[in-house]
Amino acid sequence: MKTKKYYITTPLYYVNDKPHIGHAYTTLAADVLARHLRSRDIPVRFQTGTDEHGSNIEKIAKEKGVAPKAWCDGISADFRALWKMLNINYDHFIRTTDPSHEAGVQAVFERLLKTGDIYMGSYEGPYCSSCEAFYDEKELKDNLCPIHARPVERVSEETYFFRLSKYEDALLKHYTEHPDFLSPRYRAQEIINFVKSGLKDISVSRTKVSWGVQVRSNPSHTVYVWFDALLNYATGAGYNPENTGPDFAALWPADVHMVGKEIFRFHGVIWPAMLMALGLELPRKVYAHGWWTINGDKMSKSKGNFIKAEDVVREYGVDALRYFVFREVTFGQDGDFSMEAFRRRYNSDLANDLGNLFSRIMNMAAKYLDNRLPEKPEASETFRELSSWTPEIHRSIESMQFSDALEKIWQGVSILNRLVDAKKPWEMVKTDPAALKLFLHETVWCLRLIAAWIDPFMPDTASRMHLQLGVGKAQDGTPPQKVPPLFPRKQDEAKKP
Ligand code: MSP
Repeated sequence: MKTKKYYITTPLYYVNDKPHIGHAYTTLAADVLARHLRSRDIPVRFQTGTDEHGSNIEKIAKEKGVAPKAWCDGISADFRALWKMLNINYDHFIRTTDPSHEAGVQAVFERLLKTGDIYMGSYEGPYCSSCEAFYDEKELKDNLCPIHARPVERVSEETYFFRLSKYEDALLKHYTEHPDFLSPRYRAQEIINFVKSGLKDISVSRTKVSWGVQVRSNPSHTVYVWFDALLNYATGAGYNPENTGPDFAALWPADVHMVGKEIFRFHGVIWPAMLMALGLELPRKVYAHGWWTINGDKMSKSKGNFIKAEDVVREYGVDALRYFVFREVTFGQDGDFSMEAFRRRYNSDLANDLGNLFSRIMNMAAKYLDNRLPEKPEASETFRELSSWTPEIHRSIESMQFSDALEKIWQGVSILNRLVDAKKPWEMVKTDPAALKLFLHETVWCLRLIAAWIDPFMPDTASRMHLQLGVGKAQDGTPPQKVPPLFPRKQDEAKKP
């Protein structure tokens, strides 16, 4: 049997709109974890993709005058282009319109019809077409949809139900026995209370929605978008109850589903119950992160305060964005994105602290060090101290405490900056050239450590650093080049001419 890969997923993003910084956040988090594990020689499978069915998507395609599939092709390609720009190194991009996924969903539906976990019933009550969800009267707020605050329709239709109620006890038992399943822990209680308050069977088919996966044995029904989309985690790994692919055993169970807090319930309640019904193992962890607001406001199209990752990248580079989102806010909690905060951190942490440190040392190393990379400076106290931090930094990344990892790394950066200030290597040039060489050896090695640490967060910067950290004078004796700054300083908006 092949070795089990560490299987990481992101949610599948809706294609009713262009990607923004919130979507990028989840995908970047998965990428940081994936890159870190790969660097430790752990085989990884990282899957992301797009959620393409449902009446909302059908509606927007109609408004734009294109066929639904053509619309999905366009936005799905936008997502892939953005991931490329952000240096996201996924292994598989799944679309819910992929034929193998659709076949898997159909087969699951038939299987659960056979086992009785899905049954035909009828539904009467409020329905929100934006959520594509049925509501209970008491869930409405002032008679409006609790999410969209829009009027709901009263519908009466036949629908298939998934027997969610049957899994209440099994779910609660699972949460108790696997305390890390719902992470972070402070978000788990809400889910546990929800399950404890009693689960009702959920509707999993629609007769009104034509843009969806048809129920094979009753084509007047399409599968509810969430039931369809959640299955991607299994179908994307080769699962189909009628014909499971060979890779599934090496991938399943998923190790972590990264999700935003608003979809924690789908992943913490409905999805595991679906897996129980299918007799599949449950994922090891669902990790729910918080939400970004923009200058204190919810990001929304109507407010026009969407921050597009492309715009930030164009001005500051990819790595600055990758750094900021994980340094500014503890992963798991909500945070606020503002360009002022971004510029401040860019100038202080990146241009000043890391960028200046790197060019100060490398410009001298290029002049005064030989080409050969010297042995590790085991005698250097600073190098020994910093090296001993590696396990802690790794643990922080593996437990999704990304800001802790970055904070620790920047502590290292500031220790090195202080060391340069205290030792004044530019004076040593005249007073003690041998000591200068030793000092540069030591600091070059410390910078190699820093480059390795930041690699999952800032892969481009790490490779630019690594490229220069291997060398002093060029082989052929050409004069050393001045090191271009890693992060050119940006002027404050207020001071711009
Ligand atoms: N299609 C569903 C998920 C199905 S998974 C089987 C969906 N899609 S979505 O396009 O709305 O994107 C959801 C994800 O984008 C959220 O879970 C979250 O990870 C991310 N974010 C969207 N806006 C966000 C913020 N403002 N802040 C942080 N992340 C947010 O839900």
